[in-house]
Amino acid sequence: METRVLPFTDEAIAEAARLILAGEPIAIPTETVYGLAADATNAEAVARIYEAKGRPSFNPLIVHVPDLAAAERIGDFNHEARELAKQRWPGPLTLVVPLRPGGGIASLVTAGLATIGLRVPAHRAIQALLSATGRPLAAPSANASGSISPTRAEHVFKSLGGRIPLILDAGRTERGIESTIVAATGGSLRLLRKGPIEIEAEAPSDGRIVAPGQLASHYAPSKPLRIGATTAEPEEYLIGFGEVRGDSNLSPSGDLVEAAARLFDMLHEADESAKPRIAVAPIPESGLGAAINDRLRRAAA
Ligand code: TXA
Ligand code: MG
Repeated sequence: METRVLPFTDEAIAEAARLILAGEPIAIPTETVYGLAADATNAEAVARIYEAKGRPSFNPLIVHVPDLAAAERIGDFNHEARELAKQRWPGPLTLVVPLRPGGGIASLVTAGLATIGLRVPAHRAIQALLSATGRPLAAPSANASGSISPTRAEHVFKSLGGRIPLILDAGRTERGIESTIVAATGGSLRLLRKGPIEIEAEAPSDGRIVAPGQLASHYAPSKPLRIGATTAEPEEYLIGFGEVRGDSNLSPSGDLVEAAARLFDMLHEADESAKPRIAVAPIPESGLGAAINDRLRRAAA
C-alpha cells in the first residue's frame, strides 16, 4: 500500500474524511501524539487499526469526540466526570466512564468492556476530521506495536509507512506525551495513566491512584471456553470460523479482519446463550489471528 503524507489543509481533511467513511484508518495529529484514527462505529475499520499496528493483543481504544455533548451520547457521566470534563476539555484528558448501551460504538473499540475511554482533543486537525466525518474516532497512538508514540509525521511514516493510506502532517505535536487517563466508573475518580494534566491536585482527595500499567481489566465470558474446537461437544455453543460452521461464525470466508470485528459480539452472544459452555474453532496465528488467539487463550485459561 502506498502511504501518502499530506500537509494539513481543507483538501487533506476532505480526503481523510473520505477514507474514514470508507472504513480505512488514517494517521492524524492530536495535541498529545499522532493517532491512528478510524470510525468507532465501524467494527472492521477498527480491526484495521490493529492490523496496521500489528498489535498482538486487543486493548480498549480511546474514542475522540468533538465535545462533551457528543461524549455524553456514548458514555454515562457522573457529576465528578462532567465537572472534570468541563474544566479540561478540549485537552489531553481521557475519561473512562460506563458505556451507554445503544451508543453505536463497535464492541472491538472497548475490547468487550462495559466502560469506554473518551476524549475531546484540542488539536484543530483532529477536530476538523471529527466535524468532516460526523463520526466518533477511535485512535490509539499511530505507531507499530512495540515502538514509541509518534510526535511527528516522520515518526508515523517510519513505523507505519506502507501499512496505512494517509498521514496528515501538521508538524510536531505540542504535548508530546499521551493523555492523562482518569476513570469515573465508581464512587471516586481514579488516575489510570499519568500524562500532561496533573490530576492528583485536581481530583477529589479520595481519588485512588492505580499503578501505571495496571490498566483495563479484560473482558472474558463467564462460561468455560475451549479453543481449537472443530466440532461442538454436547452442551457447547460453538463459535465457528471458515469451514467450521458453528452456532455462529466469526467469518465464513475465513477473513481475519471480519473475525476480529465480530469477536467480542460473538463472545457476548455465546455467553448469553442457553448452553453452559463455549467452544471456538481454530484461528490461524497470522496477522490479526495472533490478537484474536491471545484474547481467546486468556478467556480459556
Ligand atoms: O493522548 C492519547 O491518549 C493518544 C491520542 C492519540 O489520543 N492515544 C493513546 O492511545 O495513547 P493508546 O491506545 O496508545 O492508549 C490508550 C490507553 C490504553 O492503555 C488503554 O488500556 C486505556 O487507554 N483505555 C482505553 N479504554 C479504556 C477502558 N475502557 N478502561 C481502561 N483503560 C482504557
Ligand atoms: Mg500507545
